[in-house]
Amino acid sequence: VKTIGVLTSGGDAPGMNAAIRAVVRSGLYYGFKVLGIRKGFNGLINGEIEEMTARSVGDIIQKGGTILQTARSALFKTEEGLNKAMSMAKVFGIDALVVIGGDGSYKGARDISKLGMNVVCIPGTIDNDIGCTEYTIGYDTALNTVQDAIDKIRDTAYSHERCSVLEVMGRHAGYIAVNVSISGGAEAVILPEKPFDLEKDVLKPIIEGRNRGKRNYTVIVAEGVEGKAIEIAKEITERTGIEARATILGHIQRGGSPTVQDRVMASRMGLKAVEVLKEGKRNRVIAVKNSAIIDLDLDEALQMKKDLPEELILLSKILSL
Ligand code: F6P
Repeated sequence: VKTIGVLTSGGDAPGMNAAIRAVVRSGLYYGFKVLGIRKGFNGLINGEIEEMTARSVGDIIQKGGTILQTARSALFKTEEGLNKAMSMAKVFGIDALVVIGGDGSYKGARDISKLGMNVVCIPGTIDNDIGCTEYTIGYDTALNTVQDAIDKIRDTAYSHERCSVLEVMGRHAGYIAVNVSISGGAEAVILPEKPFDLEKDVLKPIIEGRNRGKRNYTVIVAEGVEGKAIEIAKEITERTGIEARATILGHIQRGGSPTVQDRVMASRMGLKAVEVLKEGKRNRVIAVKNSAIIDLDLDEALQMKKDLPEELILLSKILSL
């Protein structure tokens, strides 16, 4: 490998810039040429590619989003798109791709690897929903952003003696939801991984809490749950007499300056991706296992699954009393 192309793909996540910076600077340190590809796989198809220098990644480690921009490419899912991307990679002399993104991006990377491209994936998504890794870039910042919002909403919920129903991101996974339900002291959390009973799991704890003297209530709803926050808030108001308001946090959860943890993890994973290429390995995924940064085979990584820890679900329930 002489020339590495780096791109970000799927939803942006805070810390992606730190990962780009680490790939570029580690790449240059080890004597590679590094090209930045704009707008994910679309930019590869369209040749939106530029050479990166140590300076082109200066002053970005503290920034949210991704300086390379990102996309969810529909064209890249087709044979035509993949072939175009391969031929553009040849034009620019790219012989390895570092793909920073979520599991959808990993599948794109796997598809182009089947045409002969060498790929290394770095997990970047606020959802922490990639089966092969304990940690994904952006997750910690998103948790802290959500926590900050919960604290602010709690001030006004207490003042009006209301129930706040907060819908948080995470796609089909409840990692953000269960963690902020613990850190935010929620009365209930509704997760896509667990069937829920509105009476037993939400209305009862709220009413019992009121009878014990609670003055405000927080319910966290993961976006992957059927029913969503607005309908749940309506039910709570109608059936408990406690005024409930829904807040959908939305894209605020994806923005902002990355936390120290996201910056450091992204930097470590960026370096590891370059080291893997330097060692001559092909089609790898960078992952975190028992807090260590490791690399795995891409096909095997795509088969791996992880479960939301039952311990966290139980903890959230016990501490909501
Ligand atoms: O994967 C990150 C994420 O923010 C999910 O939590 C959410 O379901 C999705 O992306 C939203 O994507 P978009 O910004 O394209 O609507």
